[in-house]
Amino acid sequence: MNTRTSHRMAESMKTVATTGELRSLLAMPRGKDRIALVPTMGCLHQGHVALMRRAKDFADIVVVSIYVNPLQFGPNEDFDAYPRSFEQDCAACESAGVDIVFHPQTLYPGGEAQVRLAAGGLADALCGAKRPGHFDGVAMAVAVLFNTVQPDVAVFGEKDWQQLAMIRRMVSDLQFPVEIIGVETVREANGLAMSSRNRYLSDAERQQALVLNKALNTMWKKAAEGESDAEVLISLGRNMLAGAGLQPEYLEIRDADDLTPISRIGHHVARAFIACQVGPARLIDNMPISNASISLKMNKMTEMP
Ligand code: PAF
Repeated sequence: MNTRTSHRMAESMKTVATTGELRSLLAMPRGKDRIALVPTMGCLHQGHVALMRRAKDFADIVVVSIYVNPLQFGPNEDFDAYPRSFEQDCAACESAGVDIVFHPQTLYPGGEAQVRLAAGGLADALCGAKRPGHFDGVAMAVAVLFNTVQPDVAVFGEKDWQQLAMIRRMVSDLQFPVEIIGVETVREANGLAMSSRNRYLSDAERQQALVLNKALNTMWKKAAEGESDAEVLISLGRNMLAGAGLQPEYLEIRDADDLTPISRIGHHVARAFIACQVGPARLIDNMPISNASISLKMNKMTEMP
Protein backbone atom coordinates (compact mmCIF):
# COMPACT_ATOMS: atom_id res chain seq x y z
CA MET A 1 0.00 0.00 0.00
CA ASN A 2 1.18 3.45 -0.82
CA THR A 3 0.43 5.49 2.30
CA ARG A 4 0.88 9.21 1.77
CA THR A 5 1.76 11.57 4.53
CA SER A 6 2.11 14.87 2.69
CA HIS A 7 -0.94 16.85 1.77
CA ARG A 8 -0.44 19.63 -0.62
CA MET A 9 -3.74 21.37 -1.40
CA ALA A 10 -4.85 24.58 0.30
CA GLU A 11 -6.33 24.25 3.80
CA SER A 12 -9.92 24.92 2.76
CA MET A 13 -11.88 22.60 0.51
CA LYS A 14 -12.80 23.97 -2.93
CA THR A 15 -16.09 23.28 -4.69
CA VAL A 16 -16.15 23.62 -8.47
CA ALA A 17 -18.95 23.10 -10.95
CA THR A 18 -17.25 23.16 -14.33
CA THR A 19 -14.58 21.12 -16.01
CA GLY A 20 -12.68 24.35 -16.80
CA GLU A 21 -12.51 25.36 -13.12
CA LEU A 22 -11.52 21.85 -12.10
CA ARG A 23 -8.82 21.63 -14.73
CA SER A 24 -7.30 24.97 -13.76
CA LEU A 25 -7.26 24.00 -10.07
CA LEU A 26 -5.61 20.69 -10.85
CA ALA A 27 -3.21 22.20 -13.34
CA MET A 28 -1.47 24.25 -10.64
CA PRO A 29 2.09 22.95 -10.56
CA ARG A 30 1.20 19.34 -9.89
CA GLY A 31 4.75 18.13 -9.50
CA LYS A 32 4.81 14.63 -8.10
CA ASP A 33 1.47 15.03 -6.35
CA ARG A 34 -0.88 12.14 -6.76
CA ILE A 35 -4.58 12.69 -7.30
CA ALA A 36 -7.30 10.36 -6.04
CA LEU A 37 -10.86 10.47 -7.35
CA VAL A 38 -13.89 9.25 -5.42
CA PRO A 39 -16.83 9.28 -7.86
CA THR A 40 -20.22 9.56 -6.11
CA MET A 41 -23.80 10.52 -6.77
CA GLY A 42 -23.97 12.44 -3.49
CA CYS A 43 -26.29 11.75 -0.57
CA LEU A 44 -23.11 10.75 1.18
CA HIS A 45 -23.00 8.38 4.16
CA GLN A 46 -20.30 6.66 6.20
CA GLY A 47 -19.62 4.26 3.33
CA HIS A 48 -18.57 7.21 1.16
CA VAL A 49 -16.54 8.68 4.01
CA ALA A 50 -14.61 5.38 4.17
CA LEU A 51 -13.83 5.78 0.44
CA MET A 52 -12.57 9.33 0.99
CA ARG A 53 -10.38 8.26 3.92
CA ARG A 54 -8.96 5.42 1.84
CA ALA A 55 -8.30 7.83 -1.02
CA LYS A 56 -6.17 9.95 1.30
CA ASP A 57 -3.89 6.93 1.89
CA PHE A 58 -3.01 6.92 -1.79
CA ALA A 59 -2.86 10.54 -2.85
CA ASP A 60 -1.96 14.11 -2.00
CA ILE A 61 -5.08 15.61 -3.52
CA VAL A 62 -8.51 14.01 -3.08
CA VAL A 63 -11.29 14.95 -5.50
CA VAL A 64 -14.87 13.83 -4.80
CA SER A 65 -17.29 14.11 -7.70
CA ILE A 66 -20.98 14.52 -6.94
CA TYR A 67 -23.05 13.92 -10.03
CA VAL A 68 -26.37 12.10 -10.25
CA ASN A 69 -25.73 10.42 -13.55
CA PRO A 70 -28.92 10.27 -15.65
CA LEU A 71 -27.43 7.69 -18.03
CA GLN A 72 -27.38 4.99 -15.36
CA PHE A 73 -31.08 5.27 -14.49
CA GLY A 74 -33.73 3.41 -16.48
CA PRO A 75 -36.92 5.18 -17.63
CA ASN A 76 -38.95 3.88 -14.65
CA GLU A 77 -36.22 4.30 -12.05
CA ASP A 78 -35.72 6.87 -9.31
CA PHE A 79 -33.58 9.52 -11.08
CA ASP A 80 -35.91 12.40 -10.13
CA ALA A 81 -36.49 11.09 -6.62
CA TYR A 82 -32.85 10.19 -6.00
CA PRO A 83 -31.95 11.98 -2.75
CA ARG A 84 -29.83 15.11 -3.19
CA SER A 85 -28.21 16.77 -0.18
CA PHE A 86 -25.40 18.95 -1.49
CA GLU A 87 -24.74 21.04 1.61
CA GLN A 88 -24.55 18.05 3.95
CA ASP A 89 -22.41 16.26 1.35
CA CYS A 90 -19.93 19.15 1.30
CA ALA A 91 -19.77 19.12 5.12
CA ALA A 92 -19.04 15.37 5.05
CA CYS A 93 -16.32 15.87 2.41
CA GLU A 94 -14.75 18.71 4.36
CA SER A 95 -14.57 16.76 7.61
CA ALA A 96 -13.08 13.79 5.74
CA GLY A 97 -10.28 16.08 4.50
CA VAL A 98 -11.32 16.20 0.84
CA ASP A 99 -9.58 18.89 -1.23
CA ILE A 100 -11.98 19.43 -4.12
CA VAL A 101 -15.67 18.68 -4.62
CA PHE A 102 -16.54 18.58 -8.31
CA HIS A 103 -20.30 18.91 -8.82
CA PRO A 104 -21.04 19.48 -12.49
CA GLN A 105 -24.53 20.02 -13.91
CA THR A 106 -23.46 17.89 -16.86
CA LEU A 107 -20.33 15.93 -17.74
CA TYR A 108 -20.49 16.75 -21.45
CA PRO A 109 -19.50 20.02 -23.17
CA GLY A 110 -22.68 20.12 -25.27
CA GLY A 111 -24.86 18.99 -22.36
CA GLU A 112 -25.33 15.53 -23.84
CA ALA A 113 -23.00 12.90 -25.25
CA GLN A 114 -23.57 11.31 -28.64
CA VAL A 115 -20.72 8.82 -28.43
CA ARG A 116 -21.41 6.18 -25.78
CA LEU A 117 -19.62 3.29 -24.13
CA ALA A 118 -20.90 -0.28 -23.87
CA ALA A 119 -19.97 -2.05 -20.65
CA GLY A 120 -19.92 -5.52 -22.26
CA GLY A 121 -20.40 -8.99 -20.81
CA LEU A 122 -19.76 -8.16 -17.15
CA ALA A 123 -22.84 -5.97 -17.30
CA ASP A 124 -25.23 -8.65 -18.56
CA ALA A 125 -25.93 -10.60 -15.37
CA LEU A 126 -27.04 -9.70 -11.83
CA CYS A 127 -28.06 -6.01 -11.70
CA GLY A 128 -27.46 -5.61 -15.43
CA ALA A 129 -30.14 -8.20 -16.25
CA LYS A 130 -32.80 -6.14 -14.49
CA ARG A 131 -31.32 -2.73 -15.36
CA PRO A 132 -30.39 -2.82 -19.05
CA GLY A 133 -28.06 0.05 -19.96
CA HIS A 134 -27.27 0.81 -16.31
CA PHE A 135 -23.60 -0.21 -16.49
CA ASP A 136 -23.17 1.44 -19.91
CA GLY A 137 -24.22 4.67 -18.19
CA VAL A 138 -21.87 4.05 -15.26
CA ALA A 139 -18.97 3.31 -17.65
CA MET A 140 -19.65 6.50 -19.58
CA ALA A 141 -19.73 8.76 -16.50
CA VAL A 142 -16.69 7.16 -14.90
CA ALA A 143 -14.67 7.29 -18.14
CA VAL A 144 -15.45 10.99 -18.60
CA LEU A 145 -14.58 11.67 -14.95
CA PHE A 146 -11.28 9.83 -15.43
CA ASN A 147 -10.50 11.96 -18.47
CA THR A 148 -11.52 15.16 -16.71
CA VAL A 149 -9.77 14.62 -13.38
CA GLN A 150 -6.93 12.42 -14.65
CA PRO A 151 -6.53 10.74 -11.27
CA ASP A 152 -3.71 8.35 -10.36
CA VAL A 153 -6.11 6.37 -8.20
CA ALA A 154 -9.89 5.98 -8.07
CA VAL A 155 -11.75 4.49 -5.12
CA PHE A 156 -15.04 2.55 -5.27
CA GLY A 157 -17.11 0.62 -2.72
CA GLU A 158 -17.31 -3.16 -2.77
CA LYS A 159 -21.05 -3.02 -2.09
CA ASP A 160 -21.36 -2.34 -5.83
CA TRP A 161 -19.13 -5.30 -6.63
CA GLN A 162 -20.39 -5.74 -10.18
CA GLN A 163 -19.74 -2.06 -10.86
CA LEU A 164 -16.23 -2.44 -9.42
CA ALA A 165 -15.54 -5.51 -11.61
CA MET A 166 -16.83 -3.68 -14.70
CA ILE A 167 -14.74 -0.59 -13.96
CA ARG A 168 -11.59 -2.67 -13.46
CA ARG A 169 -12.26 -4.25 -16.84
CA MET A 170 -12.94 -0.87 -18.47
CA VAL A 171 -9.66 0.49 -17.10
CA SER A 172 -7.85 -2.53 -18.51
CA ASP A 173 -9.61 -2.51 -21.90
CA LEU A 174 -9.40 1.26 -22.45
CA GLN A 175 -5.97 1.46 -20.83
CA PHE A 176 -6.70 4.24 -18.41
CA PRO A 177 -3.57 4.88 -16.32
CA VAL A 178 -5.64 4.73 -13.11
CA GLU A 179 -5.25 2.35 -10.18
CA ILE A 180 -8.62 1.09 -8.95
CA ILE A 181 -9.04 0.57 -5.21
CA GLY A 182 -12.03 -1.32 -3.77
CA VAL A 183 -13.12 -0.59 -0.20
CA GLU A 184 -15.00 -3.09 1.97
CA THR A 185 -18.71 -2.42 2.49
CA VAL A 186 -19.48 -0.27 5.51
CA ARG A 187 -22.40 -1.61 7.52
CA GLU A 188 -24.66 -0.24 10.18
CA ALA A 189 -24.19 -1.87 13.62
CA ASN A 190 -27.03 -4.28 12.76
CA GLY A 191 -25.32 -5.46 9.55
CA LEU A 192 -27.36 -3.48 6.99
CA ALA A 193 -25.06 -2.36 4.17
CA MET A 194 -24.95 1.44 4.01
CA SER A 195 -26.68 2.83 0.94
CA SER A 196 -28.13 6.16 -0.08
CA ARG A 197 -31.36 4.28 -0.84
CA ASN A 198 -31.71 3.16 2.81
CA ARG A 199 -33.33 6.59 3.26
CA TYR A 200 -36.38 5.31 1.46
CA LEU A 201 -37.01 2.64 4.16
CA SER A 202 -39.52 2.93 7.01
CA ASP A 203 -38.47 1.54 10.41
CA ALA A 204 -40.32 -1.71 9.71
CA GLU A 205 -38.71 -2.05 6.27
CA ARG A 206 -35.29 -1.39 7.79
CA GLN A 207 -35.86 -4.33 10.14
CA GLN A 208 -37.02 -6.48 7.24
CA ALA A 209 -33.94 -5.48 5.20
CA LEU A 210 -31.61 -6.97 7.83
CA VAL A 211 -32.37 -10.42 6.45
CA LEU A 212 -30.26 -9.69 3.34
CA ASN A 213 -27.08 -9.55 5.39
CA LYS A 214 -28.23 -12.41 7.63
CA ALA A 215 -28.88 -14.63 4.61
CA LEU A 216 -25.44 -13.87 3.14
CA ASN A 217 -23.81 -14.51 6.51
CA THR A 218 -25.56 -17.85 6.87
CA MET A 219 -24.50 -18.86 3.35
CA TRP A 220 -20.95 -17.78 4.13
CA LYS A 221 -20.91 -19.79 7.38
CA LYS A 222 -22.32 -22.96 5.78
CA ALA A 223 -19.75 -22.71 2.99
CA ALA A 224 -16.97 -22.17 5.50
CA GLU A 225 -18.18 -25.28 7.37
CA GLY A 226 -17.76 -27.29 4.16
CA GLU A 227 -20.96 -27.04 2.12
CA SER A 228 -19.81 -26.69 -1.46
CA ASP A 229 -23.01 -27.04 -3.47
CA ALA A 230 -23.96 -23.52 -4.55
CA GLU A 231 -27.63 -24.52 -5.04
CA VAL A 232 -27.85 -25.72 -1.43
CA LEU A 233 -26.38 -22.46 -0.18
CA ILE A 234 -28.66 -20.40 -2.38
CA SER A 235 -31.77 -22.31 -1.18
CA LEU A 236 -30.72 -21.64 2.38
CA GLY A 237 -30.54 -17.91 1.69
CA ARG A 238 -33.81 -17.91 -0.26
CA ASN A 239 -35.63 -19.66 2.60
CA MET A 240 -34.43 -17.05 5.05
CA LEU A 241 -35.64 -14.26 2.79
CA ALA A 242 -38.99 -15.98 2.29
CA GLY A 243 -39.29 -16.26 6.09
CA ALA A 244 -39.00 -12.45 6.23
CA GLY A 245 -41.60 -12.07 3.48
CA LEU A 246 -39.07 -11.19 0.76
CA GLN A 247 -38.39 -12.61 -2.65
CA PRO A 248 -35.00 -11.66 -4.09
CA GLU A 249 -34.63 -10.27 -7.58
CA TYR A 250 -31.53 -12.47 -7.62
CA LEU A 251 -29.51 -14.50 -5.16
CA GLU A 252 -26.52 -16.03 -6.89
CA ILE A 253 -22.99 -17.27 -6.34
CA ARG A 254 -20.48 -16.21 -8.96
CA ASP A 255 -16.76 -15.94 -9.58
CA ALA A 256 -15.52 -12.78 -7.86
CA ASP A 257 -13.53 -11.57 -10.88
CA ASP A 258 -15.30 -12.52 -14.08
CA LEU A 259 -18.74 -12.99 -12.47
CA THR A 260 -19.38 -16.35 -14.17
CA PRO A 261 -21.86 -18.57 -12.26
CA ILE A 262 -20.35 -21.14 -9.89
CA SER A 263 -21.99 -24.46 -9.05
CA ARG A 264 -19.41 -25.82 -6.59
CA ILE A 265 -17.66 -23.72 -3.98
CA GLY A 266 -13.95 -24.37 -3.68
CA HIS A 267 -11.07 -22.71 -1.96
CA HIS A 268 -10.88 -19.96 -4.58
CA VAL A 269 -12.96 -16.98 -3.63
CA ALA A 270 -16.43 -16.84 -5.06
CA ARG A 271 -19.00 -14.27 -4.06
CA ALA A 272 -22.67 -14.41 -3.16
CA PHE A 273 -24.73 -11.58 -4.62
CA ILE A 274 -28.21 -10.47 -3.66
CA ALA A 275 -30.66 -7.84 -4.88
CA CYS A 276 -34.05 -7.45 -3.29
CA GLN A 277 -36.85 -4.93 -3.32
CA VAL A 278 -37.70 -3.96 0.25
CA GLY A 279 -40.66 -1.58 0.25
CA PRO A 280 -39.70 1.32 -2.03
CA ALA A 281 -35.94 0.53 -2.04
CA ARG A 282 -34.10 -1.87 -4.29
CA LEU A 283 -31.19 -3.02 -2.10
CA ILE A 284 -28.05 -4.95 -3.05
CA ASP A 285 -25.36 -6.66 -1.00
CA ASN A 286 -22.62 -9.26 -1.54
CA MET A 287 -20.14 -11.32 0.44
CA PRO A 288 -17.17 -13.61 -0.25
CA ILE A 289 -17.99 -17.33 -0.13
CA SER A 290 -15.34 -19.98 0.21
CA ASN A 291 -14.77 -23.36 1.84
CA ALA A 292 -11.55 -21.92 3.22
CA SER A 293 -12.86 -18.83 4.96
CA ILE A 294 -13.76 -20.10 8.43
CA SER A 295 -10.63 -19.03 10.28
CA LEU A 296 -10.33 -15.84 8.26
CA LYS A 297 -13.77 -14.46 9.02
CA MET A 298 -14.93 -16.11 12.22
CA ASN A 299 -14.10 -13.08 14.34
CA LYS A 300 -16.27 -10.94 12.11
CA MET A 301 -19.19 -13.35 12.44
CA THR A 302 -19.15 -13.11 16.20
CA GLU A 303 -19.64 -9.36 15.84
CA MET A 304 -22.80 -9.87 13.81
CA PRO A 305 -26.13 -9.66 15.66
O1 PAF B 1 -21.54 4.19 -7.42
C1 PAF B 1 -22.00 5.30 -7.78
O2 PAF B 1 -22.37 6.15 -6.96
C2 PAF B 1 -22.13 5.60 -9.27
O3 PAF B 1 -22.47 4.46 -9.97
C3 PAF B 1 -20.87 6.25 -9.86
C4 PAF B 1 -19.68 5.32 -9.76
C5 PAF B 1 -20.58 7.55 -9.13
C6 PAF B 1 -21.07 6.57 -11.35
O4 PAF B 1 -22.10 7.47 -11.53
